[in-house]
Amino acid sequence: MTLERPNLSIDGLMAELMALAQISEAEPPVVTRVVFGEADMRARAYVKGLCTEAGLTVREDAIGNTFARWDGSDPTLAPIGTGSHIDAIPNAGLYDGCVGVLGGLEAIRVLKKLGFKPRRSIELVIFTAEEPTRFGIGCLGSRMMANVLTPEQALALRDKEGRGLEEWRAQAGFAGPLESVAVPNGRFYQFVELHIEQGPYLEQEGLDVGLVTHIAAPASQRIVIEGEGGHAGGKLMPGRKDALAAAAELILALESAAKSTGAIDTVGTVGICDVFPGAVNSVPSRVLITTDVRDIDGARRDRVLAALADTGNDVSARRGVKITTELINADPPTTCDPAILAALEESAVAAGKTYRKMVARAYHDSSFVSCIAPVAMLFIPCRGGVSHRPDEYASPKWIGRGVHVLSRTLAHLAE
Ligand code: GLV
Ligand code: MN
Ligand code: MN
Repeated sequence: MTLERPNLSIDGLMAELMALAQISEAEPPVVTRVVFGEADMRARAYVKGLCTEAGLTVREDAIGNTFARWDGSDPTLAPIGTGSHIDAIPNAGLYDGCVGVLGGLEAIRVLKKLGFKPRRSIELVIFTAEEPTRFGIGCLGSRMMANVLTPEQALALRDKEGRGLEEWRAQAGFAGPLESVAVPNGRFYQFVELHIEQGPYLEQEGLDVGLVTHIAAPASQRIVIEGEGGHAGGKLMPGRKDALAAAAELILALESAAKSTGAIDTVGTVGICDVFPGAVNSVPSRVLITTDVRDIDGARRDRVLAALADTGNDVSARRGVKITTELINADPPTTCDPAILAALEESAVAAGKTYRKMVARAYHDSSFVSCIAPVAMLFIPCRGGVSHRPDEYASPKWIGRGVHVLSRTLAHLAE
């Protein structure tokens, strides 16, 4: 069969992406879809409907990971997996994750249209909660699939209001033992995820696609600083134990530690700072900050965490505040599979697309799937490298090229 598609139109896919973007907790074009919230549930229903229309068999596990399967001719063979996530952080755009889900579906539909008959089944996966918004930990669904997060650890997760995973998944209609979410090694023969780059290089270099060789190692912590509150007028400066002033030192220390590795691949962010009691005229008594540190070198990342811990000890002694650090996750970097990368490269060449090899600095479900199957990722450009913002953008042309290379790759792997 030929995989040339002179008349390929991605108008349908673009319309689906735009329709999915309308399903949001925020006013479009802002996309906010927090896992198990009302918008997430409607988005899931929309995407499952598209999968069923495309003739795929849809199944969900106990945590809502969704599998849409195109049966291959040999049901004894482990499937080829593709997919990503459709949940979105607050104030997000419409491409992060969704391009991998709807683009993956489009790649399957294209192969079907072309009359391709896969030997291995091809399975589209929509992972639950790639984003950490609700429960504070990223890649919840893929972590649990890979048993990197155990059911006991998952049960202990709480949202800001103290509601647990059990309560949320029951409300979302997902039942069954959490133990059943973990899958055995080899559940997928190979897995390939399409995603926007979330960085500037492909656009800057005018390249069509990126072949991801490594995924950076993310670590996150929750740090609580407890000082002493009081009246902003009455409490004199010499005796203060201002929790926010102490937090400010930690925030700057993290920035400086991440910069001082000298490596462009080290990044450190404090994205949450909750101040109690949060009144203009009250000295902050308690502050919660989160840290997010990443690097493709896991040891170098850990040195940043160690430097921050040292600063914490110093700040605590000097300012008389109590600092409690909880490590949420510290995952290793991921190395992508050479055989899948070779298939991606061959497909890019055959499709006449330009490409380069690159690292992924965001984290992705593929990192955790790599614990149970070989993985690789395929990046497409996004404008200005912008992501996790409403003005995130990938052009139809860029998306079409990614889908083209993905469909060829899936055909190659499933043949
Ligand atoms: C996922 O979106 C991440 O934070 O990398
Ligand atoms: Mn994201
Ligand atoms: Mn993503």
